[in-house]
Amino acid sequence: MNPNLIRFAAGLPWERALADNRHMADTDLAERAAQLREALHHHAHLYYVLDAPQLPDAEYDRLFQQLQALEAAHPELLTADSPTQRVIGRVLDGLQPVRHAVPMLSIQTETDTTAAGAAAFDARVRRELALPDDAPPVEYAAELKFDGLAVNLRYETGALVQAATRGDGETGEDVTHNVQTIGQVPLRLRGADWPAVLEVRGEVYMRRDDFETLNARQRDRGEKTYINPRNTAAGAVRQLDAKVAAQRPLSFFAYGLGEVQGWPEGAEPATHAALLDRLAVYGLPVSADRRVVQGAEGLVQFHAEMLIRRDALPFDIDGIVYKVNSLALQKQLGFKTREPRWAVAHKYPAQEQMTPLRGIEIQVGRTGKLTPVAKLEPVFVGGTTVSNATLHNLFELRRKGVRVGDTVIVRRAGDVIPEVVGRVAAVPGPRQPYVPNFRMPRHCPVCASAVVRERGGMDHRCSGGLFCAAQRKQAILHFAGRRAMDVEGLGDKLVDQLVDGGFVRTLPELYTLGVAKLSALERMAEKSAANLVAALEKSKKTSLARFIYALGIRQVGEATAKDLARHFGSLDRVMDAPLDELLQVNDVGPVVAQSIRTFFDQPHNREVAEQLRAAGIHWPEHEAALGPQPLLGKTLVLTGTLPTLSRDQAKALVEAAGGKVAGSVSKKTDYVVAGEEAGSKLAKAQELGVPVLDEAGLQALLAPPVA
Ligand code: IVH
Repeated sequence: MNPNLIRFAAGLPWERALADNRHMADTDLAERAAQLREALHHHAHLYYVLDAPQLPDAEYDRLFQQLQALEAAHPELLTADSPTQRVIGRVLDGLQPVRHAVPMLSIQTETDTTAAGAAAFDARVRRELALPDDAPPVEYAAELKFDGLAVNLRYETGALVQAATRGDGETGEDVTHNVQTIGQVPLRLRGADWPAVLEVRGEVYMRRDDFETLNARQRDRGEKTYINPRNTAAGAVRQLDAKVAAQRPLSFFAYGLGEVQGWPEGAEPATHAALLDRLAVYGLPVSADRRVVQGAEGLVQFHAEMLIRRDALPFDIDGIVYKVNSLALQKQLGFKTREPRWAVAHKYPAQEQMTPLRGIEIQVGRTGKLTPVAKLEPVFVGGTTVSNATLHNLFELRRKGVRVGDTVIVRRAGDVIPEVVGRVAAVPGPRQPYVPNFRMPRHCPVCASAVVRERGGMDHRCSGGLFCAAQRKQAILHFAGRRAMDVEGLGDKLVDQLVDGGFVRTLPELYTLGVAKLSALERMAEKSAANLVAALEKSKKTSLARFIYALGIRQVGEATAKDLARHFGSLDRVMDAPLDELLQVNDVGPVVAQSIRTFFDQPHNREVAEQLRAAGIHWPEHEAALGPQPLLGKTLVLTGTLPTLSRDQAKALVEAAGGKVAGSVSKKTDYVVAGEEAGSKLAKAQELGVPVLDEAGLQALLAPPVA
């Protein structure tokens, strides 16, 4: 045997233990392989499940290669649950049927998406249990309904021996080769007090960020993009080639059990919540967003809370699952044909719907970007009726293969603009040839200027600039927006009138509008005209950051505008800053820097800025550049309700001190500021060991250090 295969650097404690064992007897080799497996399982758990790695990737790889080499030289040492088996990349001819030892049931769906749905379930449970009206509330475990694919993981003496899909509930398909590639699925259970046979049920899903990354990669390669995380995850699990599955970043959450043989003394849980805790002890990923609640009221509250948090979760859910918490009561309630009486799925309104595509129109945006907009048969999706949805750009549209007349899938999640994610392939009948080959117009549909596309870019743009009425309107709306100059009452209808009537051609002209001129507009009463003039007057007192943002420089969003204001302290310094100085600003890269330079290199843009100042717009000079910056370079996350500061106030204070406020907690977060009713962000901070502060703690950070 080659002694080079197993040379250990005596660094970490367990490595030292391995290194001590230097004799090359076969029993020692077997022992060494076992220790390597153990170490790799341990670090995979820290990395994939707890998201808290303790070993650099290169170290992990090194150990992995050692085990691989050892197994290659001594095939008899290879075990089915070895970490090296994750990446084998088996290709199958077809998926083999697997008969489930315990059927994989479905779950009753409560179709009433309002709070009444939860109450109906609770009433059913109480009736089935024959509880008198004055009996105390039933205890429930409320958890998320993950939107993925159900699988059954079979562990025998702690090792994963089989993974199967649900299939028809009686018989599923063997997908072990693919599920093995999912880092979050342990190949070996942690500890030793598990049942000899343990079937874990749960959902394979894809995180939204992983889905976006995957689609970005597809786009870069000019390949077809995937429609949604759920279908992509389900497709990956059923691949014949494990290498393909391994390239799709999948995740897993455990939520229940199948067959179990022999709980060890003291290990058998009495409640569903305790069962999930136990699965977590065995190293299985279990969602932290779950709660034990009392009665219908508790269910309604969880359902409502998660609806608010739904769009901020890193993965899709399509509802909440309620389960009677006591396993004894579950047994008592039993099953009715194919569904348990002790559980129900309480859905949320769907975020995707199908609807016919009636036409495609071109919209011209603030920066001149031409966006193909789908005109849809109105459809109720994500809580509102949608009749327009973006198709992003010509290339997206082509890749999706969407044509007028197709039935398309529309997605609307939270405040995001509704989008067409793809077409429904399986609609029978010929495709209607209304617009067989959609093309971008060569001239702007609004101002007839030439349409251009930057070399290699995806976007088509109208070259008309502020000559184009569409761009002018959007520029005014942006300028007047709440986060920019905040001119109350200046909405689309009014801007249309002002631009179409020739009252406003440039931004500074807004400030020349008087009550007399405005009252001449249709549907404009003198009172509203006066209000608008007052709002314009009020907007003149602003901040440098808002003003920079309001100018609508491409690539300069609110955060960049704040960074620029903070860095330079005056408008003149921003306008004159050479590229290399712009690049010194926090988060400003070459593209953003060039865009700022290009903007201020155009004399008419400088003129607009000057005229606006001349019209009376002002801000405290050197506002931010002077103050102390105790939080410079720090990222904070705010969660929950603080005792005295509103969310916006706290954010402003952090930013004034040079810090950044992020929306989610990660390893890069420096502090989490938590108030009352802080939720998963607090839990995540604790999990990652990010320091958590209360409002007083935040104030202490903000206070300049006492000399
Ligand atoms: S429990 C006997 N819990 O919903 C009850 N199912 O069941 C078995 N699902 O496709 C299901 N999240 O994969 C349960 N937290 C959760 C779930 C969940 C998602 C899926 C499951 C199945 C469907 C109906």
